[in-house]
Amino acid sequence: MAAKITGSVLVTGSNRGIGLELVRQLCESTCPPSQIFAGCRDPNGPRVKALKELAQKHQHLVTIVELDTTNQASITEAAKVVGGQLKDRSLNLLINNAAVNIPGSLTETGEQQMMQVFQTNTVGPLLMIKEFLLFLRTAAAQSGAQREMSSQRSAVVNVSTLISSIEKCPETFLHAPMYPYRVSKAALNMLTRCLSEDLKKDGILVMALHPGWVQTDMGGPEAPLSTEDSVTGMLNVISSLTETHMGTLLDWEGNRIPW
Ligand SMILES: NC(=O)c1ccc[n+]([C@@H]2O[C@H](COP(=O)([O-])OP(=O)(O)OC[C@H]3O[C@@H](n4cnc5c(N)ncnc54)[C@H](OP(=O)(O)O)[C@@H]3O)[C@@H](O)[C@H]2O)c1
Repeated sequence: MAAKITGSVLVTGSNRGIGLELVRQLCESTCPPSQIFAGCRDPNGPRVKALKELAQKHQHLVTIVELDTTNQASITEAAKVVGGQLKDRSLNLLINNAAVNIPGSLTETGEQQMMQVFQTNTVGPLLMIKEFLLFLRTAAAQSGAQREMSSQRSAVVNVSTLISSIEKCPETFLHAPMYPYRVSKAALNMLTRCLSEDLKKDGILVMALHPGWVQTDMGGPEAPLSTEDSVTGMLNVISSLTETHMGTLLDWEGNRIPW
């Protein structure tokens, strides 16, 4: 069944990889969102061609927004741009997808590597949620009869990873040591869990989603999953979220991953 995400959506890091495919599938859905904001840190850079073509093809739907999630001024400016265009200043779905990974064995990892990855993968999503919270709250409040928590009403999806799981570490560590990345995403999971407690009262659903191991610049060519299959699964999971998924870590097929 096709995923049904019909409200307004903001995706960070949408010029390539999973973010680009999220925007593509949302545009091409039989029930597309009302508005798609495609965040991208360098809209005039060399890696934006595919996103620009997509936005050109779906002009009525997609707005490319300059957004560097490690830069507070950029986030504030993006919120002004998005807020100015949102119908009723209401944002239904924020997908915190932007992230970085760097070689991360113990030998390769020092303060600078830890801080750089933490800034993007953990601090960035926190700043994004704070800046867009007003719009998410408005969406939740305006939902009228639709009182159940859902991505149609108001939700934050933090894109996490299987290798953030502390319980799964013994079976995943040897394949991917990646100290900065693992630690930053485990912290993102705690952020997700804290926010789910905090924003329950507002009717905003918050959860973390693992896309699988995917063929992107980050995942590499040997990854088993195509971006198409991963994102089809992710959107199915996102569109069927309910209150029971509040504060969980799920994979792209909807399976629960232990913390
Ligand atoms: N691929 C996998 O196997 C895999 C597995 C588990 C989880 N994930 C997660 O899935 C998400 C997407 O990963 P991906 O594989 O698509 O990665 P990717 O191909 O490396 O793309 C990363 C995206 O994030 C953007 N980005 C990085 N730093 C940013 C910043 N400061 N501000 C705004 N955008 C920024 C990049 O923009 P630029 O082009 O400007 O650099 C790019 O659009 C990430 O959260 C990742 O951790 C991926």
